[in-house]
Amino acid sequence: MMSSVAVKDRWSIKSTPAMEQEQFELWQALLEERTGMTLNQERKSFLETSLSIRMRELGLADYEEYYGQLVAGTTESKAMEWSVLVDRLTVQETSFFRHQSSYALVETFVNNFIDENPSGSSLDVWSVGCSTGEEPYSLAMMISEQFAARETNDYFGITATDISLPTLSKARKGVYAARKVEQVDPRLREKYFESVSEREYQVASSLRDRICFARLNVLEVNKAPMQNMDLIFCQNMLIYFRRWRKKQIVTRLAERLAPGGMMVLGIGEVTDWSHPDLERVQVPDTLAFRRRKN
Ligand SMILES: C[S@@+](CC[C@H](N)C(=O)[O-])C[C@H]1O[C@@H](n2cnc3c(N)ncnc32)[C@H](O)[C@@H]1O
Repeated sequence: MMSSVAVKDRWSIKSTPAMEQEQFELWQALLEERTGMTLNQERKSFLETSLSIRMRELGLADYEEYYGQLVAGTTESKAMEWSVLVDRLTVQETSFFRHQSSYALVETFVNNFIDENPSGSSLDVWSVGCSTGEEPYSLAMMISEQFAARETNDYFGITATDISLPTLSKARKGVYAARKVEQVDPRLREKYFESVSEREYQVASSLRDRICFARLNVLEVNKAPMQNMDLIFCQNMLIYFRRWRKKQIVTRLAERLAPGGMMVLGIGEVTDWSHPDLERVQVPDTLAFRRRKN
């Protein structure tokens, strides 16, 4: 009888063919051109495994054939397949209130917004690269709390965008495993989540209704209708992009800020970047810029 190790080896050899370097470079270029993400040599085996799983589902035998389908199929079939693949190749790791210092900064910003704007103003927020929704829901909880504490008549809306359709569909449902929700402050958990099964919670509809989830490839920000945003929040997405591209995207996002609006990035995610209309917000352990008012 064959040992389990031998069976496993035979299976993995059969299911994950090695990719020629030339092929790898083609896939790297395709992914970068379409998503901005760079896949370094260390992630070659991740690419091989992800593609092989998908090729097996499609009944395809080699990388070349699959590549051909993605670049030369009908427009519709190419787009559908690409959207499945992008979901498999992107990193969607996220959590509620990820990087507390950024949220503390948002809290101060929201308080200033209430002070500086007439009653009945709208606070418009954009979460860029929102993944499965934890980020926009955290922003919604934070803003709701501030608005309630200050008894303001202001209101807010959040647009949350991502390149991955399956990810956005999870985000819209707002259903999360208990272990994720348990990381949220118990008071907020009590107020903004409903238990839907023994192991899952759903975000309350009062919060879900505040968020519009939409597909957007950040390389195509020029096609996005968002303008005059008061707050743009973009963390842990640019880390996968080349330096020149990060700067290009951040410049385009900056153009969508309202006067006085703030853009919050992940710490260290863009270096040597400035914009004539923006000033750096000097708060330790954060990376944020504010658009001058005039
Ligand atoms: C690691 S998650 C970060 C999620 C969240 N912002 C956070 O900080 O927890 C990165 C997200 O960026 C998205 N993404 C990657 N490339 C993108 C692109 N070109 N346009 C839009 N979203 C992209 C991925 O689908 C993924 O959901």
